[in-house]
Amino acid sequence: MSIVWVGAIRKNAQQDIMLKKLCLGLLALATTTLCESISRDVTTTTVIAAVSSSSSSLTVATPGTPVSPKVLLIANEFEFGYLDAYNFTTQYTGVLFDQTFACTEDGAICKLECGQELVSASQITALMMIPGVDLKKTYVIITGTGGVNPKYGTAGGAAISTFGIQWEWGSMFLGDDLPANFSGQYFASYAQLSPDKYPVTVGSEVYKLNEALVDRFYATGSKVTYEDVSETSQGLRATYEYDAAKQDPFLARCDTVSAQVYWHGNVAGENVEYYSNVITNGQARPCNTNEDDQGRLLALFLGAVHHMVDFGRVSMIKAFSNFDRPPPQLSAYQSRFYVGEGATEPGLRNAWKSIIVIVDDVLENWDSVFDAGIKPNTYMGDIKGTLGGVCDFNSTASAAKGSVQGS
Ligand SMILES: *[C@@H]1O[C@H](CO)[C@@H](O)[C@H](O)[C@H]1NC(C)=O
Ligand SMILES: *[C@@H]1O[C@H](CO)[C@@H](O)[C@H](O)[C@H]1NC(C)=O
Ligand SMILES: *[C@@H]1O[C@H](CO)[C@@H](O)[C@H](O)[C@H]1NC(C)=O
Repeated sequence: MSIVWVGAIRKNAQQDIMLKKLCLGLLALATTTLCESISRDVTTTTVIAAVSSSSSSLTVATPGTPVSPKVLLIANEFEFGYLDAYNFTTQYTGVLFDQTFACTEDGAICKLECGQELVSASQITALMMIPGVDLKKTYVIITGTGGVNPKYGTAGGAAISTFGIQWEWGSMFLGDDLPANFSGQYFASYAQLSPDKYPVTVGSEVYKLNEALVDRFYATGSKVTYEDVSETSQGLRATYEYDAAKQDPFLARCDTVSAQVYWHGNVAGENVEYYSNVITNGQARPCNTNEDDQGRLLALFLGAVHHMVDFGRVSMIKAFSNFDRPPPQLSAYQSRFYVGEGATEPGLRNAWKSIIVIVDDVLENWDSVFDAGIKPNTYMGDIKGTLGGVCDFNSTASAAKGSVQGS
């Protein structure tokens, strides 16, 4: 076992005083106690100590040893520090594979300690190429943390998603270069006339998962009782204007948007929602913002195209570490850098609680339900219909006539 320190940010006394002043001056329901604890939280919660099994304590399987897990959990290394329900005893290695992929003794449950952002695409591709590793019948649960849109969920809760949306393929102007009629700096690719026009797509913008699997996992995963967040975070969530935000942590059913940039604030949040609605013809309920899932879905989808993964068994159950925008009394800057990701720990523990009962469901009902798979009840796949079926959320691109992409 080893201790991993994540995001260790040391604060000095002056910053602490500044923070308390800032807090007292700005918080609508400011009390000295609340501000004392906010400033304390900044020190403690940005330093997340995670105990993780070091790869050296695992037995390394002989190259080529077969393993066909029923469940594969994908998260960042520190996020597995909040999961102790399983002992991963056997590690598998392969060419170009530099992550930890380890399984329980019986090979039923495996974990991939995955990198963030696009690097995870090459890591998952390398995993699929390890001789003996067979993911054809594996239920993949992508988890980890992200920010929450206060319209749909609350910090410390989690979400299970049908849509995974990538917030990458677009155009951007900064500052004064922005045309006056654009409300945000980022707009859908080649939708030159206005940001509400449908973009020119490359195909990887949206992945729609198996909605029937989401139904089943949601029904199971929402039965567990979640722990609450700290009193400071409870005080803060009460100041948001949306009902979902004010609630105790719960498992929401809404969608994931990921990008290489961790955006924050009302303007960015509204832009992302706007784009998500345009790109899915209004079907998505974008609630989870993160920098992790883009590459993961890309690689799993590629695996599905090449029959190495069943895309109908891929799911996303993500924790909420913070709100993606500030409450009315704070600026985006204060919210991002001084409130920070204070709900990371309860959020991850809660998400794992749901995942554990879902894994139990898969293992207990393997023969009767999960071995054969759960048939999707709506369209599943990418924006171009690559896996077959007729995409139910795409539209004709709107590039302006006479422009580079327009006719
Ligand atoms: C994992 O292994 C440890 C040490 O052998 C044992 O104490 C613990 O009960 C095991 N946990 C599970 C969930 O099997
Ligand atoms: C937005 O502004 C641009 C640049 O000034 C202009 O070409 C475009 O027609 C405008 N779009 C709308 C919908 O007004
Ligand atoms: C939408 O996807 C379907 C495949 O499911 C494809 O046949 C159709 O051309 C796409 N429509 C547009 C406008 O891209």
